[in-house]
Amino acid sequence: MTEQHKNIYPVPDALAKRAWIGKADYEALYRQSIEDPEGYWAEQAKRLDWIKAPTKIKNASFDVNNVDIRWFEDGTLNASVNCLDRHLETRGDQPAIIWEGDDPANDKTLTYRELYEKTCQLANGFKEMGIGKGDVVTLYMPMVPEAAIAMLACARIGAIHSVVFGGFSPDAVAQRVVGAKSKLIITADESVRGGKQVPLKDNVDAALTRDGTEVCENVLVVKRTGGDIDWHEGRDVWYDDLVSRQATDCPAEEMGAEDPLFILYTSGSTGAPKGMKHTTGGYLTYVAMTHQYVFDYHDGDIYWCTADVGWITGHSYIVYGPLANGATTLMFEGVPSYPTPGRMGEVVDKHKVNVLYTAPTAIRALRAHGDDVMDSSSRDSLRVLGTVGEPINPEAWEWYYRVVGKAQCPVVDTWWQTENGGILISPLPGATDLKPGSATLPLFGIKPGIVDNDGNLLEGEAEGNLVILDAWPGIARSIWGDHERFVQTYFSTYPGMYFTSDAAYRDADGYYWITGRVDDVLNVSGHRMGTSEIESSLVAHDKVAEAAVVGFPHDIKGQGIYIYVTLAEDFEPSDELKKELIQWVRKDIGPIASPDVIQWATDLPKTRSGKIMRRILRKIATNETEGLGDTSTLADPSVVDELIEHRANR
Ligand code: WTA
Repeated sequence: MTEQHKNIYPVPDALAKRAWIGKADYEALYRQSIEDPEGYWAEQAKRLDWIKAPTKIKNASFDVNNVDIRWFEDGTLNASVNCLDRHLETRGDQPAIIWEGDDPANDKTLTYRELYEKTCQLANGFKEMGIGKGDVVTLYMPMVPEAAIAMLACARIGAIHSVVFGGFSPDAVAQRVVGAKSKLIITADESVRGGKQVPLKDNVDAALTRDGTEVCENVLVVKRTGGDIDWHEGRDVWYDDLVSRQATDCPAEEMGAEDPLFILYTSGSTGAPKGMKHTTGGYLTYVAMTHQYVFDYHDGDIYWCTADVGWITGHSYIVYGPLANGATTLMFEGVPSYPTPGRMGEVVDKHKVNVLYTAPTAIRALRAHGDDVMDSSSRDSLRVLGTVGEPINPEAWEWYYRVVGKAQCPVVDTWWQTENGGILISPLPGATDLKPGSATLPLFGIKPGIVDNDGNLLEGEAEGNLVILDAWPGIARSIWGDHERFVQTYFSTYPGMYFTSDAAYRDADGYYWITGRVDDVLNVSGHRMGTSEIESSLVAHDKVAEAAVVGFPHDIKGQGIYIYVTLAEDFEPSDELKKELIQWVRKDIGPIASPDVIQWATDLPKTRSGKIMRRILRKIATNETEGLGDTSTLADPSVVDELIEHRANR
């Protein structure tokens, strides 16, 4: 641990006084939540409005022979009612969503009543289109209020949403539509980010030419820019035409706590992205609780999470958590650095944001401009800062704390995953002394452990694989259509435990320091992607014989994408070919998977059984070629010397 890791930031007095959870509360409640999960979560479930209150609280097994997770299973409720209807009486005129456009001149506010009415109208429109309980609706949307409205409208009628990030390619959309047998896609003509248009509708048109996508019957199109699009009569429907004729009330479907609320695809180390299945009662209880405690959310606060609704952070902490709590949630269409590098601070001032939740990559990008990047704003309204998505290096943490928060706001470094539904390890602003770079302590009901490679649980200060030992209400219940894969991926490595695929160090104070993935998943600018997805894209190119993808440390992105390519016979390396391959991957997966470095390789280091030794490729990409370890098991050790000699990112 470096010197910097030893800095400790105690809880500020002012916060300790007003916070929901103080130091003593944390300790007592944590103990209770672990010793008596049934009692703890029965109480927490009361934050929701149930149609039928649950009497069975927890029924969950991590046993590899019988992975079965249920929470509140005999309760019934509706998620949209919890996010909308129940707030109407007390806060119908309060802003629910503040929308800030890509262009700073564009913004608008939807009150809870307006959000309720628009949600009901779309829900009625869905019914008119023949969408009902259990149908899957795909969203491929810009960051506009209609994205949240569409999620809530699905929830209202018991349809299951599957949001696909707007930066993904037509193939990625097609894959998810087919995987979930989705009958309807909601999109927009174009999205706008950083002043540039992205042709969402064109991408959907292209996606729907792919095999298997015939399941999709309709495309609902939000007019965002008015840009030119093709129109498929009979299939395409304008959003405004559909909703304008609908009533502003729509009865909510009574859903079982364990009925699916949504599917969200995420990358793993092998195979196609997995559709994580999240259900209703446990998920909503968990995100409501964590949103309140982690951000110390109080009535009237303006809360801004900069994530995209295409990721789990957007689901849980732009839409469901904040709205379940009756919060005002800010939704930002653009990118943090447009039109000026200081935009993020300017948005904070404009809307008097109290809680800012963003990603390390955005913080590092800001910091690269120098401290005066924040001079265009005062940020006096800020009270709590949050970060998520990847490990935050202590230098970036200190900068966030000192420059963005002017040393007034605790930084909550929140560790969690798509599979988890909500935050699992994080400081609480009024309870936890902070150490820059550490996600600190587990939240209520979360029992983390560290195991060695043989699965032995380690006590006290330890470093190893991070596991979670018991179920919490927000955990995904399955992989859509493939429960066996769910079991194999998360519960078979260390039987009886949920394996996170992250490594962690637990210090003498019990604080957790997440050090990154131990599988073949990359985290590029906080976007999670499987190296195997990028490799399959590359080998589908006719000039590529073989490809291996690894991550390397990148100042802004956290990790960059480093590719080793062996060309097919008769093809010669060239700069043009490099560009061609980069474009190929961008087009195939999406711009977020854009390769940073390509190294031509006449051969790749393989074991005698033909397995690529990525450990060695990672070290070469990182330029740590001193301690390459044992290369004697390689079929041809001389391959390594050649790769080192031709390293690409010197
Ligand atoms: C990483 C995002 C360190 C981690 C919510 C995890 C983090 C993966 C943190 C999940 C953090 C997320 N500190 N690492 N605070 N937050 N990660 O599914 O490797 O997109 O396994 O969920 O991001 O990414 P996902």
